[in-house]
Amino acid sequence: MGESKTDVTLEKIIALCKRRGFVYQSADIYGGINGVYDFGHLGVLLKKNIRNAWEKSIKNREAGNILYIEGALLAPKPVWEASGHVSHFHDPMVDCMNCKHRFRADHINLQKPCPNCGIKKWTEVKQFNMMFKTELGATTESSTEAYLRPETAQSIFTNFKNMITTNRVKIPFGIAQIGKAFRNEINPKQFLFRVREFEQMELEWFCKKEDSEKFFDFWQNERMKFFNTIGVQTEKLRIRPHEKNELAHYSTKCSDIEYNFPFGWQEIEGIAHRGNYDLSQHTKYSKKELSVYDEETKKSYIPDVVECSVGVDRLFLTLLFDGYKEDVIDNEPRTVLKLSPLMAPIKAAFLPLTKKQTENTEKIYYQIKKIEENVMFDGSGSIGKRYRRQDEIGTPLCFTYDFDSDDDGCITARNRDTSRQERISIDKIEQYFIDNTQ
Ligand code: GAP
Repeated sequence: MGESKTDVTLEKIIALCKRRGFVYQSADIYGGINGVYDFGHLGVLLKKNIRNAWEKSIKNREAGNILYIEGALLAPKPVWEASGHVSHFHDPMVDCMNCKHRFRADHINLQKPCPNCGIKKWTEVKQFNMMFKTELGATTESSTEAYLRPETAQSIFTNFKNMITTNRVKIPFGIAQIGKAFRNEINPKQFLFRVREFEQMELEWFCKKEDSEKFFDFWQNERMKFFNTIGVQTEKLRIRPHEKNELAHYSTKCSDIEYNFPFGWQEIEGIAHRGNYDLSQHTKYSKKELSVYDEETKKSYIPDVVECSVGVDRLFLTLLFDGYKEDVIDNEPRTVLKLSPLMAPIKAAFLPLTKKQTENTEKIYYQIKKIEENVMFDGSGSIGKRYRRQDEIGTPLCFTYDFDSDDDGCITARNRDTSRQERISIDKIEQYFIDNTQ
């Protein structure tokens, strides 16, 4: 096997996603919409694996209970006034007066000419609120201003009292949510990295103030473990504590888990100490009591919050970058997605060597499909081409039923990463499959 090259580029990832049906540009046949994507079959499977792994990773009995919530995407303006998003959720924006292109002022050098037209003629820098605003109701008179949520977290805070009373939990505990968030990014870029419609996986951990630093460290550690569990290369990860001047309006302390993309180290998950900012703000604006009673001190208090927040789409892109390799096998170049079996959309493919072996291969395929839905049968094309197709979508194992299989009761198992092949007794295939994919 030839050396793995590491010259993965965004263009290669985008091309692979389109070629194999992971991701499509949204409304493609109408020219597309910037910063919005649709996910095809393999993309949906990979996203499901990401969500499942995240849910497993936050279950931590020793720390406390985790509850789930699925909040609405829309919330009325007062929620966003209380949360601070109406007044603080801005990005600095600048326009080129010559070509009318719009940029994030902090992403370009304003001392230099416009990267689009080469002329230096900038407007003043303005603040642009990134929330999508809409109106509820049929007529303007009855309309009420509402916003699509820019983070999932707020419905956790607005439902805090509902959740704690209906579930009878005690501090410390967490509320977790996976769901869509929307941001009107000035410049969506780097494919899935910065988009306008995306999915977040957020955990808000409620605890006493005196325990909050301990839990901040605890969750930071747990979150790093998560990325190892799903197979992200450790040397490409780092924790970067925020400087005071880059903290979000709600946080007193924050650390980013960053990944070393070809376009630099970038945040993939944020761990934030939100103090009791959100619950205090919602208490003030809604005039509803959101404190809890402490049996020990016989006093009520508003708990502190440690938040872990990661984007499904950004993590999806991270896994593709992390797994993408080009190498040479049997003198032929190939592209391979070295995803952890846990993340691979298709766990194994079943290939008859020729059409004659179709029926017997199908029998084994349906046997394995009973234990794992996401396996594939592929009977068309040369065996080499079929292996390449599976390599490109990250399938860890291929099983080939060949001319000897009828006689020796064995099937060839081929490993995606090493391309090593071994004969496996068909009687033992279930165990072999489980051992190598789960
Ligand atoms: N509730 C906290 C919060 O929303 P954030 O750092 O703004 O914090 C958390 O976002 C995570 O959501 C990021 O680490 C990233 O993974 C994802 N994310 C944020 N904006 C995104 C965007 N425009 N496109 C894709 N993912 C995004």
